Amino acid sequence: MISFNPTTRTFNLHLQNSYYAFQIDEQDRLLHTGWGIRPRDAASDDVVSGLSPHLPFDPPWSFITQYRPDEILTFGDVTAFQATLKASFPTLPQPLAAGESAHLPVRDLRLRYLSHVIVTDAQPGLAPTHGIPVENTTPRETLRVRLKDPVQAIFVTLCYRLTPEHDIIERWLELENAGAETVTLDVCYFSSLHLPNGTTELTHVTGTWAREFTPHRERLGIGTRVLESRSLQTSHNTNPFFMLNRPGHAWEETGTVYFGALAYSGSWQMAFEQLPTLHMRVHAGYNPSDDQLALAPGERHTTPAFVTGVCPDGWGGASRRFHAFTRERVLPRPVRDSRFRPVLYNGWEASYFDLSYAGQAELSRKAAAMGVELFCVDDGWFGARRSDHAGLGDWFVRADAFPEGLEALVAEVHRLGMKFGLWVEPEMVNPDSDLYRAHPEWVLHFPGRPRTESRNQLILDFGREEVVEYIFNLLDTLVGRYAISFFKWDMNRLATEPGSVAGQAIWRRHVAGVYSLMDRLRAKHPGLDIQSCSGGGGRVDVGILGRTDQVWVSDNTDALDRIRIQEGYSLAYPARTMEAWVTHEHNHQTGRVLSLGLRFDVAMRGVLGIGSSLNQLSEAELAEYARYIAFYKRIRPVVQDGVQYRLERLEEFGASVVEYVLPDGSEAVFSVVVREYLIGVARPAALLKGLRSAATYAILDRDEKEIYRATGYELMTLGLPLETIGPVGYSRTLHLKRV
Ligand code: DGJ
Repeated sequence: MISFNPTTRTFNLHLQNSYYAFQIDEQDRLLHTGWGIRPRDAASDDVVSGLSPHLPFDPPWSFITQYRPDEILTFGDVTAFQATLKASFPTLPQPLAAGESAHLPVRDLRLRYLSHVIVTDAQPGLAPTHGIPVENTTPRETLRVRLKDPVQAIFVTLCYRLTPEHDIIERWLELENAGAETVTLDVCYFSSLHLPNGTTELTHVTGTWAREFTPHRERLGIGTRVLESRSLQTSHNTNPFFMLNRPGHAWEETGTVYFGALAYSGSWQMAFEQLPTLHMRVHAGYNPSDDQLALAPGERHTTPAFVTGVCPDGWGGASRRFHAFTRERVLPRPVRDSRFRPVLYNGWEASYFDLSYAGQAELSRKAAAMGVELFCVDDGWFGARRSDHAGLGDWFVRADAFPEGLEALVAEVHRLGMKFGLWVEPEMVNPDSDLYRAHPEWVLHFPGRPRTESRNQLILDFGREEVVEYIFNLLDTLVGRYAISFFKWDMNRLATEPGSVAGQAIWRRHVAGVYSLMDRLRAKHPGLDIQSCSGGGGRVDVGILGRTDQVWVSDNTDALDRIRIQEGYSLAYPARTMEAWVTHEHNHQTGRVLSLGLRFDVAMRGVLGIGSSLNQLSEAELAEYARYIAFYKRIRPVVQDGVQYRLERLEEFGASVVEYVLPDGSEAVFSVVVREYLIGVARPAALLKGLRSAATYAILDRDEKEIYRATGYELMTLGLPLETIGPVGYSRTLHLKRV
């Protein structure tokens, strides 16, 4: 609910557990009033009146100035600290006073209130255009507050879209240059947040290739801590989400936690700024490092959304709000036979570039026999692709591997009752390719300067519309010709030397180009699903999830490493999007040998995939895979649609216990993996959540054998007895069903 008090000129935004308030001051500036948890007994019409006077933000002493919490901080009103927007104007705004020097450009922007409106159809920038509905399409209120510089012809609209049931406010800006000259924006965040002073404990993730999503918690000092990507994808090194709380005031299931995530997959930045006064601000949006946004006369620009919220129930509460928001409001809900993500087979680690019809057909028969539903052919099926040195860009079937085309394999996969998926890396080109030989000018580079190849490839210049169009036509033809149900959409390098015909706009044009390709393909082929992959988890964010169905979280498939990676992933993203494979006993990334049970127990925590060399497995091993897959199909409605609790996180006792429970408490999945077993240490019991106290639950093993029975009350007070979850150094997945 959004309300406005015209007397005090105060806005109140009410969500299920939280409030947000700001006020128009006597000089028509927007001042942040507060953001936090509503008292439990608050009535729906209890609001912040706006009558209490603000603190003196600009005391007259020199060196103590500019602490005013403007809803939008502009360079001009603020220069000593970080601004949300910084603009350069090339002309004089008005006649100069006598003696004033006429130096240009004018880097001064001050935004003042003009008007506001509440609507239910507002969309942030780069919202999906594929037309596929999301799970929950009920309209949401958006407050739009229009501001203008007193003399420059520039309008800025601050947008606040409410998803009250998840305590989430999406924030974005709409910019309009109504003047006669181009205005450049050197800084353009999607919004700035003011958090209560002392909210300085930051939870985020760090990583690199094969070590994505490593959770980190740190205490911020005075100054600015920056998380960012300086590439054309989201980044392996960190991810655009955060949680913030007062140190010691929040834990997994308790305490007030602020959270935020960017719906953008390119060069982004989040700056956490603690002023010397302890004022705490978060600025997030386009990375200002090289992304100058030029607004031509008459031009408008709408930024993507900064998804923000605050909750009273700890980091777990923040994660569950992120999950529910993404499941219900972000992910496309394609029309298909089952609402659950299929069990996938991917042959990358089984075949690498050594592809043949016979080898793939044999894998597909074994995969189908064990219950796989989607068979995906990975890299190597096209052009001259016999290694990563050649072929990218030539999206035509490799005749030496598939002499009769791909049709025979597709037909075999369909005959076996599976869907067919294909790997592509559409934004890239190898210099050793027909595409590059035909169009050497189509790659990002600075003329006359060295350019770096990475994995022997260059990035296509999506600043050129003809390039994006060319790629669309190729992918569109592939989907039509081979009845493709699933693209694994990869991107295997960072951007360097980002020279483009689009200039600095390439940072945004590239993301917009990728999104538009996905949106157009999905609109034309509603049966097509897409997996986002960038050498593993390099492109995961709320923006890409608006047009993809699942993501490849990491190339690291070692189950013990994977527990940590998946735990970090679960901080912001739902299990329904987390593709996880069971691969070989002897892991290809770490060399570690791990049991099949452990590998399945970890992979079944998301969207199960198989990546093992099936042609090297015995009949007995294949049968074991089939048993696990049958079990996964029984529990996946709970894993993929359930509410997730991290009952124990690795950081405390080296064990990870995750529970998924259906909202009505009728079924749950309990998954335990002990990574660091210490003799003589009795870990705390993992108490289940979300069950019904009065109900009785049967606890079933993977063969549906009942191994224990207890009331919801007992399970939520005492947990499961140790003998049901196994001895030391174990992993186990159990299915709880209300009887
Ligand atoms: C990187 C991906 O993460 C892998 O799964 C695989 O698809 C390779 N690229 C193929 O080149």
